[in-house]
Formats: sequence, structure tokens, C-alpha cells
Amino acid sequence: MPIFDLQWVRAQFPALAMEVNGLPAVFFDGPGGTQVPHAVPQAMVDYLTHANANLHGAFVTSQRTEAVVATARQAIADLLGCAPDEVVFGSNMTTLTWAMSRVIGRVLHPGDEVVVTCLDHDANVAPWLALKEQGVVVRTVDIHPHNCTLDMGNLKQQLTDRTRLVAIAYASNAVGTVNPIAEVVQLAHTVGAWVFVDAVHYAPHGPIDVRSLDCDFLLCSAYKFFGPHVGILYGKRALLAQLQPFKVRPSPDTVPDRWETGTLNFEGLAGLGATIQYLTELGQRVSPAASTRRQALVAAMGTIQEYERSLSLALIPNLLQIPGMQVYGITDPGEFGWRTPTIGLRLAGYTPLELATALGKQGIFTWNGNFYALNLTQRLGLESGGGLVRIGLAHYNTTAEIERLLQNLHELVC
Ligand SMILES: Cc1ncc(COP(=O)(O)O)c(C=O)c1O
Repeated sequence: MPIFDLQWVRAQFPALAMEVNGLPAVFFDGPGGTQVPHAVPQAMVDYLTHANANLHGAFVTSQRTEAVVATARQAIADLLGCAPDEVVFGSNMTTLTWAMSRVIGRVLHPGDEVVVTCLDHDANVAPWLALKEQGVVVRTVDIHPHNCTLDMGNLKQQLTDRTRLVAIAYASNAVGTVNPIAEVVQLAHTVGAWVFVDAVHYAPHGPIDVRSLDCDFLLCSAYKFFGPHVGILYGKRALLAQLQPFKVRPSPDTVPDRWETGTLNFEGLAGLGATIQYLTELGQRVSPAASTRRQALVAAMGTIQEYERSLSLALIPNLLQIPGMQVYGITDPGEFGWRTPTIGLRLAGYTPLELATALGKQGIFTWNGNFYALNLTQRLGLESGGGLVRIGLAHYNTTAEIERLLQNLHELVC
């Protein structure tokens, strides 16, 4: 079985050659946006040079633009395991979610209930809280604070015969917890509720199959999985047909176009096509028997998941050895199947900003703050103390980079 070729992977990402103060840059900032393979900016420049136009024109650049959109739609359908007309493009996940909450709000009544969670990014909380204005009741599912996993018992208690929608992250962008989405969908469907999955953080870390999850909506952001700034919404076809979008009258009323208000980011979609091409090539390398793009993409994301688990093993147990270190989230290696390699931590003697700044000077890029996962930092009592430092690994990171981080942290506590 061919193995994950880290050297080839890293060679695809030109940003990894960057230096800071004479030191190689270490990109542990992926959950805020990953780096891109060189083919992505190339495809964007090619589009802007040879195909730049709007849709539905009777001339060649417009026809090329239509092909770019269709190619990107099919590529994302293959990534998520759905049909191309169930893929909607937009600016970003947040904008798409606000649009969907307004649309879903149209069919909700006072007293109807929406369930959100303590683990979610606020982009999957605030748009649902806004429905309180029309009398919708919003309930919040708690976590187990000791390891930041979702309290499934509490989730079951929050579901009632008035629940219309459950909004839940596939994985936490602050502490990496992966939620049992298929189980949540099953429970929610039992009471007749839709499930709206925020897969923005999960998407670069593992395979997604919307059919087997059976979720009703699922969102991603291409810039979080090696692409440009494009938001993606999967919706079951029947729902995209049944719900009424806010749209201008002359634009098409067919699915999925009726959901794509205004002009799309065509150069971004060209870049997104190149992202999927990169992942496909990675999949074909590890699984030469893959005979469809979907199979190759599943293989790519599976090998990424496996490699990243080895990174978590190299990092988390060693972080726990550092005096004054507190790691939030799953730390038991036996449970690493339920986390991404995204680690939230605090180090005694440093505010998160001070720690991220010290690491930044050494060329190690980490994020500090609440990462908009406001419910979580509030629940953990960290909001007034500056939140967390987030070490966010991606499949282009190495164990040597982890060793450099650990060495820097040890030096900071001396
Ligand atoms: C889990 C999660 N959901 C949603 C978002 C918002 O995504 P976007 O920037 O595409 O609106 C982010 C961005 O950090 C995120 O990490």
C-alpha cells in the first residue's frame, strides 16, 4: 500500500518555503485558513486572463465561465458525496448561514424550537439566535467541560416535538472535538427536525459523506481546505426546491441557481477546481486503484486523517509534559478518532496573546483568542482571560515542526 508522500505534499505548497527572522515558517494557523497548492493561484490567474466574464453570454469567455462553475460544482459534489445541483456557492459560510436562517425562519412559527451547541463557531449560533425576534425558542446543548465533548444526554433532553432544526458543528474549530453527526441526525430526524451541519473546521481533516450522514444541510469554506475564499452549502435537493430564497426576479429560479444571489466569485471557483484536482492527485497516489474522483477524494481525506492522527500523537502527550500547560479538549490518545489535530491550550504565566506573539517571533504561526467559538470560551470561563492559544495542524505539517514548537514552549517555561 503506497504511503502518504509528505515530501510531495509539501512541494505543492509554495508558502511553506517562507522564512521569518531567518527561520522556516511553521504554519500552525490552518483552522483560520490553510495554505494553497501552487495550482490554485495559477488557475485563478488563468481564469482572469482567458475566461473573465459573467454567465449566460453568447460568447466564448462567458461560456468558459459557465464551464468553470459547472466544473467546480461537480468537483464539490464528488468531495461531499452528493449531486452537483445540491451544491450552492456563496461568499463564505457565515453569509450563507445568515441567508439560510432568514429563509428557514420564514417557515417557523412562534414556539418552534432550534437547538444550537456550546461547541459551535458563532456563525452557526448567532443566525439562529436572531430567530428569537419572531418567537422561536433557541436551546443550547452543553458540553463535558473536562474534555470538551458534546453532552449527548443533554442533547437528547433538548429535543422536543417542537424542535425544527439542530445546528451543529462537525468539529470544533477551537479544540478539535469531532461530533457524532450521524447519531445527532438520527435523533433529530426522530422528532422531525432538520440538521444544519457546520463542516468548515472538519473539511480539511477527513472524508465527508452527506448521504450516509443524512444531514439536511452542510456547509464548508474552501479557504479552510486548501482553496480560495468561497463558501459552500450542500442542501438536500427537495429542501433547496421547497424553501423560498430571497432572490432578484430575473435570476434563474432553478435549483441550485436560485440560491446563488448576485455574481459568484468565478476566479475563486477556478481555484477551487484546482484544489480538488490536488486532493484527487493525492488520493490517486495513495490509492492507485481508485477509479472515480469520489473514490480518490475519499482516499485522500482518509490518508490525511491517518497522518494527522500521528501528528496528534506526536504533539498532545508531549504538550501535557510541559509544566503549567493546560490542554482543552480530548487528550486521551485512545479517543483521537474523535478529534482533529486542532489543540486549544493555555500556558501559566502567559496570556494567549503573549504566547502567540512569542511563538510568532520564532516563526511559529498560531492563533489566540476565542476564534468566534464564543459559547465555548464563555462556558470554559476563558473569555475574560483572552481565550486560548490554538495550535492547528494540517497535513502539510511535520513532526520536525512539532519538535520545534515543543522546544520553544520548554524554553518559554524555563
Ligand atoms: C467552524 C467554523 N465555522 C464557521 C466559520 C466561518 O466561516 P467563514 O469565514 O467562511 O464565514 C469558521 C471560520 O473560522 C469556522 O472555523
